[in-house]
This record gives sequence, structure tokens and C-alpha cells, in this order.
Amino acid sequence: MCGIIGIAGRSTVTERLVEGLKRLEYRGYDSSGIAILDGGELKRERAEGKIKSLEAKLKDGMIDGHTGIAHTRWATHGVPNETNAHPHFFGRVGVVHNGIIENFLELRASLPDNHFRTETDTEVVAHLIDDALTRGLDSKAAFQDCLKKLRGAYAFGVIIDGVKDQIFCARAGSPLAIGIGDDEMYLGSDAMALAQLTNRLIYLEEGDWAILSPDSVDIFDKSGASVTRAETIISGGPAMAEKGNYRHFMLKEIYEQPETVGRTLANYVDEFNLTADLPEGLNFSEYDRIVIIACGTACYAAMVAKYWFEQLAGIAVDVDVASEFRYRQPVLSPKSLFIAVSQSGETADTLAALRYCKDHGVRTAALVNVMTSTMAREADIALPINAGPEIGVASTKAFTSQLTALASLALSAAKSRKDLSRDAEIRLARALIKTPRKIKEALELDAQVEQIAFELSKSRSAFYLGRGSQVPIALEGALKLKEISYIHAEGYAAGELKHGPIALIEDGTPVIVIAPYDPLFEKTISNLQEVASRGARIILITDDIGAKSAGNMASETIVVPSSDSFVAPIIMSIAIQLLAYHTAVHLGTDVDQPRNLAKSVTVE
Ligand code: G6P
Repeated sequence: MCGIIGIAGRSTVTERLVEGLKRLEYRGYDSSGIAILDGGELKRERAEGKIKSLEAKLKDGMIDGHTGIAHTRWATHGVPNETNAHPHFFGRVGVVHNGIIENFLELRASLPDNHFRTETDTEVVAHLIDDALTRGLDSKAAFQDCLKKLRGAYAFGVIIDGVKDQIFCARAGSPLAIGIGDDEMYLGSDAMALAQLTNRLIYLEEGDWAILSPDSVDIFDKSGASVTRAETIISGGPAMAEKGNYRHFMLKEIYEQPETVGRTLANYVDEFNLTADLPEGLNFSEYDRIVIIACGTACYAAMVAKYWFEQLAGIAVDVDVASEFRYRQPVLSPKSLFIAVSQSGETADTLAALRYCKDHGVRTAALVNVMTSTMAREADIALPINAGPEIGVASTKAFTSQLTALASLALSAAKSRKDLSRDAEIRLARALIKTPRKIKEALELDAQVEQIAFELSKSRSAFYLGRGSQVPIALEGALKLKEISYIHAEGYAAGELKHGPIALIEDGTPVIVIAPYDPLFEKTISNLQEVASRGARIILITDDIGAKSAGNMASETIVVPSSDSFVAPIIMSIAIQLLAYHTAVHLGTDVDQPRNLAKSVTVE
């Protein structure tokens, strides 16, 4: 989703801003632009499409200066063309924005000059500030005056013609960080954008706004009072976003999973004593219900967790997509525990759900990959997954780490709530500890899956079926295929297919059946037969015993390493990720930045 970068410095900024934009590419975008105070005068360049189009334009008539802002735009209001690309200018003001100004139409109508050049909601900000300057306010007062009028979500960077060396910025709803340099200050949507420039960050809090100059940062809260916000040192550095020898970030991230799942486990499971203890501040015996809220892939991890918490710990779990949750007036009680699951920790709907629960007196936890994120900072308890930066838009390693952390939490919940026998605890902890090795073995299926994917890439539509805790894996498999290969795919509970969707099965329709050999295996195989006998081409993903017991209805069988059924959803995920990845590669799509998608969705 939209990305912002800014530099207020003492040396030229254009090249470094473009570099920063490239580091923001992973968020998903469809146009980009840059604005500079060139000798105190506002200049800009913008381009539709990829950043290389912007670079080409910058070469033609290089603009440069010591202060500048830049932007990658993911279109919300107005088509993704050059006119609608940020920065937007009006009068003396240039602005880049991430979020949605919900009352922009009303604000437009209120302005003396309501002649707008773009279809965006953002342009109104430049008009409002310029109007305040015209009314005689100084730049700081004009910026503050504008903020008071806005409704919606925003993170801004603003430069003003004639106001040398300064960037004005604000956040409400959308993330924004300030970077501290030596005689330079930076602005960025996330740590990734600034990784090349600094590792010293200040995360603005909700409603904060600030003025950056090369040697100072003045931060104010919503009321206008001067405030101090803590500085965070980010570990990692520029290399964290490199692809290495892999063709795509997604493939690299798929292959990292033995290591990333191992890192997640190290935080939750004691491998010497074979036990999972409750993280500090969390005591599942205090609650009678868990509400897990998330979006996209993270929501499928939450759906698997429902099986784990209910079966192992006997605690009721509600799972909902964040965009629906708070608008349906959910019934909450002080005995509910809310868990937000989010890779980025910034997804607008999930964050809103977390805030809703806090406002209703519910204790909140955030299971996130980015521990400096807004969710991690605002939740009562921040739970890390430690998967490391995930760049591919289609989530892979964050998913398996979310699953691993949730499985470990369910185990510790079972221990604290019920009489989980020590034998059972040892068995489950051991299953978790073996997971990285099983994932490594599953990755050896890569070449076989690539071949199967070649056939799949010729289809226009596919189905994924599973039962029990494999239902969310079927849904995730279908989502992965849709988002990166653009093949229409649906995931179903295997028993549900005959209640309608089976009408879509014709000769050769690919049906991917996810069926480890577990107590539900035979029922899933019956469902497999129902579709196979109607002409479906079956790709069976199972384990060794499953392959031997399934009969010969499948056209292809992918045999993943056998595991305890507790962790089988994690192992099965590897196969569905590889299948989607290779299908997309065969089709030649932009795997790491699929069309229309954003890595972190920071608007509702
Ligand atoms: C976007 C991404 C998905 C991700 C979802 C939730 O749609 O494209 O890959 O699963 O957001 O993101 P989060 O950061 O909250 O896990």
C-alpha cells in the first residue's frame, strides 16, 4: 500500500529518495513520484507504473535539492495514472499521503478555490494548507489548522515552497516513522524504507505530528503540546531485504521456513524440557473465550488455531475477518481474550478491531512479525513470531510462523487450563520441535511440485479441499494460487462441496485434496471419489500412509513427510505454497508484486 519517504538534509536527496522508493516497492503500488525543494522552490516528477519509469524521467531533467519527499501510490481514489500520482501540489504546498481522507468532498466544497486537478482525496490537503497560508498563518500553524479539519486515516509528508529545509508530517491511522541521522532527518512508512539511511527510528503515536529539519525533530501530540517519543534502534540493516540467489523473494521466503519456524519455536517451546510455557502476561485460565481477528492469510492461521485451542485446551474460539468484526457488534465479555494476528502489525482493519476491543475493556494480545508495529505497541501483550522481514506480497514464512506460535500457545493454554497429561504434552512439544526438519524434507518435493504446477497453469479454475484443521489450509492454498497466478480458485471443507460447488466440476477440473492420514482421512477420500468420478483431475497432497491408502483415483500424489496430525497443517502449507509459486512462474506473472495487491493494507 502507499509508501512514504522523506529526507530533510544537507546534501542532495533525489537518488536516495528513489532508492528508498525501491525499498517500499514490496508494499504494492501502481505509480510513484518525488518532490524536491530545489533551492527552496518546489519541483516534482511523477510516473505511472514501476519506479523505473520515474527513474527514466528523472534522468531527463534531474531535479535535486537537500529536502524532498517521495511516494509509491496504491490507488484508492482515482485511477492509477500520472495525474493522480503523488506528490500533489497546490500553490506553495507539496504533499504525499498514505490513507483515506474520508471527508475530502466536504472539504473541497468548503475551499475558496475548489478547482481540483486530480480525482484523489489527497489533493485537498495541499489546498487546505495553502489556503491557511494565504489567510496569514505561518507554516506550522497552517499545517496544524489543516490537520484539525481532516477525518479518516492518514500519514503525510508535506514540503512548502519557501520553507527551506523542513518537512511537516503527521499520522493518524496509518503508520509513520521518523529516522534520525547525522545532520539529517528522515521520514518513512516503515523501517524498511529507511534501512539504507539509519537504524535510529522514532515511531509517531496516533494523532502525532512533527516538523523535521536537518538537525532537529519537533514532535507534537494531537492537542498541539510538544512531546518526546522514544527512539528505537532497529537491528538488521540494508541486507535484510536482499533476494540472494533466489529468483523471487517468495521462493527465498519459502525456503527460509525451516529456520524461521525454528526461530518461532525458540520463543515458545522449551526443547530440552519438552514443554510450552505461557508467555509473560498471558494466563489462559483467566478467560472463557478467545476472539482471534485477522485478515487474509493471517486469518487462515487463526482458523487453524481455533481447532487447536478448542481441541487441546477446551476453550471456545471465535475467528472473524477484521473488516467484519467491529461492525457486527460482537458480544464481548471481560472474560474474553482478544488476539490480533498480523504479519505487519499495521493492517487497518485488524488494528481497528484491536482498538475496538480495548475500548470495550477486553484484554488484547497482538501476534505480529513486526515488533515495532502499531499493533505490537498498542496491545496489552505483544507476541512475536520472529519470521524476519517478509517481502513477497503473498505471505509464506509469516504464515507458518503464525501457525507455529499459535500451536505453541494452544499447547501452553492446554497445560494451564486442563489436566493435559505430561505424556501428551511431551508428544505435542516433540511434534512441534520436529517441524523445522519436516519442512526441510517437504522442500525436497520442489521439483515434483514444479512439474505438477505446469499442468495446473493451463487451468482457469481450481478447487482445494480439506477437512478439520486442513480446511483453512485448503482456503490458504486457493488464496495463494489466486493472488499470484490469477487462476480462479476456491477452498472448501471437503464435505461441503456436494452442497453446490460440485456443479462446477467438469472433465479435467483440477481439485487439490489435502489429506494427511488422520482420523478424517477416509471421509476426505470419499469426497475425493465424488469429484474424481465426475471427471475432476485430482492432485492429492498426503503423507506416506495416506498415499498407500488412497487408492488410485489421484492423477498426481504429493507425499509430504508424515507428522503428528497436530502439526500437519504446517507441513501441508509447504506443498501448497510451492504449488502456487511454480504455477505463477510458469505463467510469467509478477510473483513478488502481484497486480492490485498490497503487502500491508493500511486503509479500511
Ligand atoms: C494483505 C496481504 C496478505 C496478508 C494480509 C494481512 O492482503 O497481501 O498477504 O495476509 O494483508 O496482512 P497482515 O500484515 O495483517 O498479516
